[in-house]
Formats: sequence, structure tokens, C-alpha cells
Amino acid sequence: MMLALQIGGGFIVIAALLQAGAGAIAQVAGALRKRSMDQQRLAFFKKQTDILINRAEADRQRNVLTWSGKRKFRVIKRQLENRVGDICSFYLAPHDGGSLPPFLPGQFLTFELSIPDQPRPVVRCYSLSGSPEDRDFYRISVRRQGPPPSAGPDVPGGLSSNFFHNNIKEGDVIDVMAPNGKFHLDVHSDRPVALIGGGVGLTPVLSMLKWLADTNSHREAWFFYAVRNGEDVACIDEIRETINNNSNFHLVVLYSEPAENDVSEKNCDCQGYLSVDVMKNYLGTSNYEFYICGPPPMMDAVTTSLKEWGVPEDDIHFEAFGPASVKKTAPAGAAESAPGDGEAKTVSFARSNKSAPWNEAAETLLDLAEECGVQIASGCRAGNCGTCATAVKEGKVTYVTPPTSQPAKGTALLCIACPDGDIVLDA
Ligand SMILES: Cc1cc2nc3c(=O)[nH]c(=O)nc-3n(C[C@H](O)[C@H](O)[C@H](O)COP(=O)(O)OP(=O)(O)OC[C@H]3O[C@@H](n4cnc5c(N)ncnc54)[C@H](O)[C@@H]3O)c2cc1C
Ligand code: FES
Repeated sequence: MMLALQIGGGFIVIAALLQAGAGAIAQVAGALRKRSMDQQRLAFFKKQTDILINRAEADRQRNVLTWSGKRKFRVIKRQLENRVGDICSFYLAPHDGGSLPPFLPGQFLTFELSIPDQPRPVVRCYSLSGSPEDRDFYRISVRRQGPPPSAGPDVPGGLSSNFFHNNIKEGDVIDVMAPNGKFHLDVHSDRPVALIGGGVGLTPVLSMLKWLADTNSHREAWFFYAVRNGEDVACIDEIRETINNNSNFHLVVLYSEPAENDVSEKNCDCQGYLSVDVMKNYLGTSNYEFYICGPPPMMDAVTTSLKEWGVPEDDIHFEAFGPASVKKTAPAGAAESAPGDGEAKTVSFARSNKSAPWNEAAETLLDLAEECGVQIASGCRAGNCGTCATAVKEGKVTYVTPPTSQPAKGTALLCIACPDGDIVLDA
């Protein structure tokens, strides 16, 4: 009996000890769990703070380090980016050895090239295709532009792109204007993005993808890249590596004219043109910020269908690489001085001694000038680069879209301007 009591008491003591021990263990485990959660919260908070600090510092550097006018850059590397060899990247370092402003992903550089036999410098824009986090150099990727398929034998290929491909070597020094442009990723947003590049329109969206990767962004990113086939596809190893290193990134490659081996080797995810129906299959929902750059037919189709899908206009961002020097030929009626009819607005080009009635079909004063055979240098044709700034001697303009930066007093950016009444331009 005593023995049983003793044994029973022992059990009770042991059970009590075990219970107390379990309680203590649970307390310690709870404390450890809480500490680990606190540490995780702290790490997350620190990461978010670091991101905000880095962004604020990048904003500051962008303002402090930018330059006005031209700056000399040395070509430090050239690299062909596709099998067909019509896209070549140029890596550019500042010749003065100074620091570079971090551009916004999607922006472009404007180049002023001295091309032999051209009466004046040729100005063209090229999107930055590298990461804004690369602070020692900029990268652009230029597609060699041949004559249009329908053109006669006398029509030359593109001036600037062929000059880049044929003439610009490593070690050469060229004039470059500071990064600019409104087509850039919203770097303060945390929303999912769909980045869409068609052909060489890949360049600005590739820069966006690289920035997201280099800043360890948690944003969900889909990269849709549409090209003809495996001969044309550019920078594909770089794109795949970036996507594979980030579990929140996804890639969809579309070939419109895949070769036999493209199909057998499964080089693309889809065949055919990029459409919003294709995107719907992957995205499921339209709750993305869309950034699109590609040939005009693709952009027209995609932007229209995105709106039909219910995507708000504010979430659809796009840029077209318009041809810069395709001049409209002067119509037979572009008289030396075609008078306005009183009600109509008359545009006069004082130095060329030409004038023409304003017609809405011209869309901008630059278009009208070209229709009349009046030479005006242009670059971006989007109000960004300032190349087409022309003095307004009399009258006023209205802008179709607001200029990126205000032109000098008394001048107007003709590529985005319409006359507000009769006008006399110093051209
Ligand atoms: C913001 C922006 C960013 C850009 N980013 C890039 C980029 O990243 N990569 C890129 O490759 N491009 C880019 N571009 C396009 C680039 O700026 C040039 O427009 C492109 O390289 C063509 O310029 P080019 O001087 O070679 O051709 P141009 O000399 O301007 O000629 C354009 C076309 O017209 C044809 N042509 C010339 N004369 C005639 C004629 N008399 N009759 C009929 N046709 C004629 C040419 O053969 C050519 O096909 C961008 C453009 C903009 C506005
Ligand atoms: S051509 Fe660039 S601002 Fe007009």
C-alpha cells in the first residue's frame, strides 16, 4: 500500500515536473518564435527602409548629376545581340570620367551624330537598354534599319542606325544628351507589371526588367517579348537569366514566323502575333500596370484591346519609335506663299519664304513644315529632345501633348505643336 502510494506520488511528482517542463519549453518556444517574428519584421522593415533610402538617393543623384546640352561619351564595347546581326549594343562611358546620373528605367538618350555628306548633325534617340543600377556606363541597342520593303533601289537605309553599325567603333567619342523621356516605369509603385516588347521595342522594357531585378523588387513582373523568330530574337540569354533568378518574374516569348528548329527546340512559348487574348491566358486578371513598346500595328492593337478589357488608361503606358527622317514630299500645291482665307490659320516660314494654310491632317507644325519642304531638324518627334525647337516670330502655339521640359522663351517644339491662330516661324 505504502509502496503503491509512493509510486503513485512519484508519478504525480514526475507528471507535475513534466507539465512544468512542458510549460517552460512552450514559453521558451513562444518567446523564440516571437523573437524570430520580431527579427523577420525588423528585417522586412529595414529592407523597405533601405529601398526608400536608395530611391530617394537615386532621385537626388538624377537631379544633381544630369547635364544640359551635349556631353562626350566613349564607346567602350560593341556587341551583336541577335543571330541575324541587325541589333548591336553600344556601351558608353563618359569621356570626362565623371559620374553618371541614374536614369529612370525606360528613358532614352539623344545622340547628335556628325555623318559625312550630311549637311548638318543627325539627331536620333535610342532607349537605354541596360540597368539604371549600372553606374559606370550606359547601354543602347540599335537595330540597323534598311530601306522600306516597297522602296525603290535609290532609297538609302536609315542614316543613324547604319552609321552606328558600320562606323562607330570601340574607342570612338560621340555627343550625347542626358537621359530623358516620360515613358518609364513608375519606380514608386508596388503593383504587378506587364512589360511588353515587340522587335527592337524590347529595349526600354528590358531596362525596366533589369531595374526590377537589380533592386530586388518583390513586384510580380510578366515579360512578353514578340519577334519574328529565333534569328531575330535579341538579348535572349540575358533575359532568361534575369527571369530565372527571380521567382516573381515570368517570361512569354512569341514568334510570329518560327523556323522549323524554333518549333522542334521549343524556343518560343507561343506562335503568332502578340494579342491581349494571349496575355489574358497568362495574367488571368487585368490588374497590372502595362508598359508597351513595339511596332505601331502591335501597339495600336494591344492598347485598344487593353482598354476593352477594362484596363484604365492610366495603367497603359506606351512609346513608339517613330521614324525620324522620313520626310513627306512637298505637295504640288505647297506654294511659295499660299495665303490663308481670313478664317483659316496661316503658317508662315519666314526664312524659307513659304506659307501654307493650317490643315488638321498635318497634326503638327513639324509635319506641315515637312509637307512644305521646309527643313527642320528633329529627333524624338515627341516633345522630349528639344531638337525641333524653333523661334516663333509672331503668334502662338498650343501643344498636343505637354513638352517634357519647357522650351526656351520665344521658341516652340514643333513636333508637338499646332498653331493657335496665324503664326510666323523662324524657319
Ligand atoms: C524615344 C525613342 C527611342 C528609340 N529607341 C530606339 C532603340 O532603342 N533602338 C533602335 O534601334 N531604335 C530606337 N529608336 C528609333 C531611332 O531613333 C531611329 O528612328 C531609327 O534608328 C531610324 O533612324 P535612322 O536614322 O537609321 O533612319 P532614317 O534615316 O530616319 O530613315 C528611316 C527609314 O526611312 C527610310 N528612308 C530614308 N529616306 C527615304 C526616302 N527618301 N523615301 C522613303 N524612305 C526613306 C530609311 O531607309 C529607313 O528605313 C527610338 C526612337 C525614339 C523616338
Ligand atoms: S523632335 Fe524632339 S522635341 Fe521635337
